[in-house]
Parts: sequence; C-alpha cells; structure tokens
Amino acid sequence: MKEGQNKYLWWQEGIIYQIYPRSYQDSNGDGVGDLQGIIQRLDHIQSLGITAIWVSPIFSSPMADFGYDISDYCDIHPLFGTMDDFDELLSAVHDRGMKLILDLVPNHTSNEHPWFKESRSSRDNPKRDWYIWKDGKEDGSVPNNWLSVFGGSAWEWDETTQQYYYHAFLKEQPDLNWRNPEVQQAMMDVMRFWLDKGVDGFRVDVMWHMIKDDQFRDNPINPDYQEHQSTFEKLIPAYSTDQPEVHDIVHMMRKVLDEYEERMMIGEIYLPIHKLMTYYGTDKNGAHLPFNFLLLSIGWDAREISSNIDQYEGALPEGGWPNWVLGNHDQPRITGRVGHDQAKVAAMLLLTLRGTPTIYYGDEIGMRDVPIPEEEIQDPQGLNMPGLNLSRDPQRTPMQWDNSENAGFSNAKPWLRLPENYRRVNVEAQQDDPYSMLALHKKLIKLRQQEPALHVGDYRPVLSSGAVLAYMRYTSDQRFLILLNLSHKACHFSPEHLPFEGTIEVDTLPEREGVTVHDQVSLSGDEGMIIRLTGRMD
Ligand code: GLC
Repeated sequence: MKEGQNKYLWWQEGIIYQIYPRSYQDSNGDGVGDLQGIIQRLDHIQSLGITAIWVSPIFSSPMADFGYDISDYCDIHPLFGTMDDFDELLSAVHDRGMKLILDLVPNHTSNEHPWFKESRSSRDNPKRDWYIWKDGKEDGSVPNNWLSVFGGSAWEWDETTQQYYYHAFLKEQPDLNWRNPEVQQAMMDVMRFWLDKGVDGFRVDVMWHMIKDDQFRDNPINPDYQEHQSTFEKLIPAYSTDQPEVHDIVHMMRKVLDEYEERMMIGEIYLPIHKLMTYYGTDKNGAHLPFNFLLLSIGWDAREISSNIDQYEGALPEGGWPNWVLGNHDQPRITGRVGHDQAKVAAMLLLTLRGTPTIYYGDEIGMRDVPIPEEEIQDPQGLNMPGLNLSRDPQRTPMQWDNSENAGFSNAKPWLRLPENYRRVNVEAQQDDPYSMLALHKKLIKLRQQEPALHVGDYRPVLSSGAVLAYMRYTSDQRFLILLNLSHKACHFSPEHLPFEGTIEVDTLPEREGVTVHDQVSLSGDEGMIIRLTGRMD
C-alpha cells in the first residue's frame, strides 16, 4: 500500500509497547506485578505516546514457564488479579484512546489444563487426540529425534497410558494437536471470548510451531551447531515447525478476527525472511504482523542492517505491512547488546523505520539486563541448560520507576532482583532530564506520530559508506533524512553527488537540534539525527 492510496489502521500507524506483567508494577505487595499495577502506571504509558499495549500472558497457569503454560484460557491468574481487574484495565486503556493486545498461546497448554488431564486419562478418552500421542519405537525409545526448545527430548513418557506425548517446550507444556478440528474450534472460541470483551488483538505465541509433520520424520542434524548454543540447535527443526498446513490455521484465526472491526494479529515467528513472509498469507489472509526479529539477530553494522532492511522491504508481499522489534522478554536487552549511547541510536532506528515498532518495557529508560546469581535463576530455559547462560531472567526484571525501595515496583521483595544502579536509572530520574533515554523516546515517538512521512511514508536507502546508516522517509510533501552513526567513532557523512539541505529535528545530542545542515554532516560516535529536508535530495 503506497502512501495516499488508503486509510491506515491503528496497528499500521501506531506503536506497540510490550509489558511483562510480572515485572511492571506490583499493587498488592506480593513482589509480583499485576493488572491493578498496570492501571496505576497508565499515565506513564500514555505520556510515552504509544498506541497499543501488548501484555504477556495473564491467564490461569501453574507458572512452569511464567504464564506461557496456560491451564484456563478464559480466566485470570489470581497473582495478576481478577476478571474485574481485567475489565477495568481494558476500559481504562480504551478510555485513554489506546488499544490492548493479549498474548494467545495456542500451540500448547499447561499439563494442568483440564483438556490435557482428560487426554492423558486413557487412550480412548474423547480428548485423547487433542494432544500428540505416539508409541515408542520397538525398543521403547522415543518416537523420533525431535528436541525440546528448553533442552532434552521433546517426548515425555506417560506411564498410565503407555505412550509418549510431544512437547516443543517444557514437559509441563504439552503441544495441542492442531490437526484435530475440535482443538481448532476450542481455540477459536477462546479468541472470540476475548474479542467479545473488546480486546484489540493477539500476539500469537510460537505461531510457526503449530503444525508438525504428519509422518513425524526425524529432523536433520545441524552441521553448524556450536557447543555454546542451546541443545535445541543440534537439529534443524525442518519437520517439527513451519509446516505448510500451518497457514490454514493462521487463516482460520484471521477469519475470526475479521468477524470484528479493526482487530489484529501479530505472529511470533523466528524464521528467515522468505519464510517469514509466507505468514502474511495469500491475499492478506494471514497474520497482520508476522514479527520481524531481524534487528535481534544481525550484526550491529551499517552495511549489514541496511542490506537486511532492503531484503525485508523487498520481500514484503503486496499490501504486507512491515514491523520492527528491538527486544522482548526472550531476548537480551538492546542496551546491553550495543551499549547505552548506541542504544539511543537504536531507538532512533526503531522509531524511524517504515513499519510498526514494538518497544519492550524498560527500554525507554535504557534498562540493562540484570545479572541474576545462579541460585536465584527462575527461568526454566536457564535452569534446564545450566552453563550456557540462556536464562531470560535478566531481561525480565522489575521496571525501575523511582529511587525508593525496590524502585517503586513493590513494597515486598520483588520476584527478581533489581540492579544496584536503579536509584540512578529510573523513570523519575529521567522525567525532567532532556538528555535522558526517556526524553529521547518521547521526542522520537511524538515526531513519528505527528509526521505521516515517518509513520506511513515510504522508505528509501541512501547511498552511504562506512559507519553511517542513512535513509529517507518521505511522503509527497515531506521528507526526512535519517543518519545513524552505528559506531563509537566520530565520522563524516558527505554523499557524493547528493546535495541536501535541512534542519536537524531530533538528535541524540539535543544541542544540535535546530541546526541547519547542507550537503555534509559530521557525526559524533554514537550519534543519530533526523533531518527535516528543505532542499532537494534526489
Ligand atoms: C514463546 C514465548 C516464550 C515462551 C515460549 C513457550 O517463545 O515468547 O517466552 O517460553 O513461547 O511458550
């Protein structure tokens, strides 16, 4: 869709903010964040200027994987509050003109879900086929070589019914059998339950895992596996993920969303670009936004990022809307990956690229991964594969609000520890500091939301060399040149035969804002700027 041709929808024009609810705000003194806590912090969220909040799972769960193991899809875990609290949150978010996106986890349930309890009760239970049960091989060993993302075999032996069940994640997270129409129906009903309440969309957990090879063939060995990687990487999940039939399921979900107005679906999909694109569906009948995780995996280098943006832009199907992500609850935080100063450049990149940006809570104040001592590790991924440093706890620590006890997150001992420096790095400390990460985020978001060139305009790479990533965002009547020095070293941007003229609108060094530039600019290390072009640039 080119600018000017169509009306844009909120999830195209807007910005998404992800909340990990255990860690946002505790309102009842148990050291764990909750829904009332989020309500208390809506002023902050609104002051950022974001459009939609995505909240990680808040449903009934034994918490083996901190809520990604659901035992009732249509109820709220008491740790987070009640259904009344949820209704209150939803209307408070809507009253403020924002949207609410829930996390839908359709690939697997908890082993405590009544569906699984029934399924495992006997081989002829009507729900037996709702999960993936298989006989062992003749010698009694596991049905095939598939591995669990969280370590070890993906098959768990069930003593009572003498069969194995498949779990792509923990053994407490048995995979549903999505080839079974009753399962499909049950999950569409779950979607309708929340859509009827008025939620604006879903982030669908591990969408590319939902259908497995119907012959359960062994996955091939990964020749590039290295010892420091997760044991799951030993094989290429060619048969356990990304099967062609998954698109029928995604389409089915999309049809449910389309029964309602302006609802949307984001898919969590870790796949290479050409495969990711298939999740948009044919004729836009798939996910609205298959999550684009490129910036999480590629090197922090101007040429590499620029060529990846081009590949991504070039691969988008007709009408497919782009999106970008810098962090989430499964990935190390951006500030740790590139450093504090460069994280400002990263924020400028995220908020000036074409496509819907998702901001992970805490990144707006430059929170860093918090080192969690071994004996305090909670994340099953970290616990199951010790020594590989795979725990996701460091990026899930409590939001740092102020310099009071526990950073204003809770008056009890938080479920994960805070960093020593929280009295310095927090929302309150950055609130009135024009040089802060928070101030930069607010400025970038405001400009993006104000300028059609930035939120719906076109993207064009600008030929540059060395450390500077340069591109234009434009509509027919407004153009911005974005220059990002991805290195720590000062450098010069002077594209040959490319005269330009403009004013620096936002700069990671605010002193330069308002300065007029033409044809060339010098940039400090870790500096990024958005130039509003006034002269020609072809
Ligand atoms: C997704 C979630 C992750 C969870 C996994 C299993 O990748 O983002 O946190 O552990 O699915 O549900």
